[in-house]
Amino acid sequence: VLSKVALRVNGQRYEKEVDTRTTLLDLLREHLRLTGTKKGCDQGQCGACTVIADGRRINSCLSLALMHEGSEIVTIEGLGTPDKLHPLQAAFVKHDGYQCGYCTPGQICSAAAMLDEVKRGIPSHVTADLNARPLLSPMEMRERMSGNICRCGAYSNIMDAIAEVAG
Ligand code: FES
Repeated sequence: VLSKVALRVNGQRYEKEVDTRTTLLDLLREHLRLTGTKKGCDQGQCGACTVIADGRRINSCLSLALMHEGSEIVTIEGLGTPDKLHPLQAAFVKHDGYQCGYCTPGQICSAAAMLDEVKRGIPSHVTADLNARPLLSPMEMRERMSGNICRCGAYSNIMDAIAEVAG
């Protein structure tokens, strides 16, 4: 069954007719040709497909495109440009926050939304004290980023990159 979906991605409006079973991930990659968002497990386990939907990070492989009628989606293509990198992108480059790079778009989208969550005072499982300093302890940062898997094991550099931007 086909159905229309209209949404904004990285500030641009799109209207597409898709199979009702199409995931947001496949809409982005196959229909809009925004291939920065990666498909890893396609089962909600790896985080490679993380995008920001209406300000919240989600696994786009677990979300149907039609659920995002009227949504504002931000993908890695919308966070920065080659000429003007997002601070997280620049920090990942500086700290070698990757090896193969496949998980990187998801890591960076997730980190961008995570830092926003911290700013807004949204607690995590391990938040002991919202007034604690530093606001984002290494343990808390690891917990908050635990939905993003790196098969290469570049975690230490990934955390260094995020910590630099977290301040
Ligand atoms: Fe969506 Fe792995 S591809 S979580």
